[in-house]
Amino acid sequence: MTKLQDVEGARHATILGVGSYRPSRLIPNAELVEAIDSSDEWIQQRSGIKTRRWATPEETVTLMSVESSKIAMERAGIEPAQIDGVVVATVSHMLQTPAVATMIAHELGLNRPVAFDISAACAGFCHGIALASDMVKAGSAQHVLVIGVERLSDLTDVGDRGTAFIFADGAGAAVVGPSDEPGIGPVVWGSDGEQFDLIRQKEDWRDVLEQDNPSMPHLVMQGNPVFRWASFEMAKIAQQTLDRTGITVDDLDVFVPHQANMRIIDAMARTMKLPDTVKIARDIADQGNTSAASIPLALDRMLEEGDAKSGDTALLIAFGAGLAYAAQVVTVP
Ligand SMILES: CC(C)(COP(=O)(O)OP(=O)(O)OC[C@H]1O[C@@H](n2cnc3c(N)ncnc32)[C@H](O)[C@@H]1OP(=O)(O)O)[C@@H](O)C(=O)NCCC(=O)NCCS
Repeated sequence: MTKLQDVEGARHATILGVGSYRPSRLIPNAELVEAIDSSDEWIQQRSGIKTRRWATPEETVTLMSVESSKIAMERAGIEPAQIDGVVVATVSHMLQTPAVATMIAHELGLNRPVAFDISAACAGFCHGIALASDMVKAGSAQHVLVIGVERLSDLTDVGDRGTAFIFADGAGAAVVGPSDEPGIGPVVWGSDGEQFDLIRQKEDWRDVLEQDNPSMPHLVMQGNPVFRWASFEMAKIAQQTLDRTGITVDDLDVFVPHQANMRIIDAMARTMKLPDTVKIARDIADQGNTSAASIPLALDRMLEEGDAKSGDTALLIAFGAGLAYAAQVVTVP
């Protein structure tokens, strides 16, 4: 017979608080179009983006994470000493190792929590929420800070008309902890590696170093196939998520999809037949696509503007490079 003892976690997990950080530089379409032979009208029509925010040199991945986390912890009513896990979703921390989560934990004055980064691109925040929920329920942590943070402006080629107007910077954080009722529903997640090349860092670092004049390997994207995949396949994933949670679109108050393109958001809402009463996040218009940060940024804005309120039922769905995706229904903190 085994002598191993098991630990018991919380019966349920929930999001206790969210916070976000929007960088200070506002970049309207007019500022980008000359370099890419485009127009404000084209960008707005095809993507819904009017302006985006790019970070200054001082607004680092760590700084944006720390600031958004402080707000999330305060709103959650959780002291730094109570946080025993930090999960950071990002693709724009420029050190291969160590994980930026450890530095963020240190800057926040946390008490040596488990801290690690995950790489799931735009789907990263929903991956983080699923992991944190499982950690709390398994007893491997009690309060987990989940951060989605990006400085995609560092990875964007401002001369590439396929990507220059899309990507942006920012951070959002959530505290996940124990609760008496389920506040985070079952995750539906997966990947389609056959489409690995559709959104990617152009070259790997070894190939870059072999070039005569090495330069930053930017993100490249085949926009149209990504657009079609997201518009049609993700509505199916959203429906599967509702089915697994045991609810229908009529039970939803809020829909917070990854902010990739306004037309994708509209197509998903149409395919899912969302009732008019469901409030839809449309942060992309003036924030751009902030990858792992887009869902917490959008949710926080909805709370601030009264489009979402504590206790609402929200569907989160995120998708991106990999292609990877994750979705869950949560109770708004
Ligand atoms: C990038 C995106 C906005 C482009 O819109 P689209 O409707 O797919 O446009 P296409 O790439 O089919 O290009 C249509 C035309 O516009 C042109 N075009 C492309 N980029 C342009 C730009 N920035 N400005 C003006 N014209 C542009 C193309 O050359 C093409 O011209 P043609 O018809 O003469 O050949 C869209 O594909 C998209 O948003 N994709 C998903 C992006 C995404 O979600 N990425 C992140 C996932 S996390």
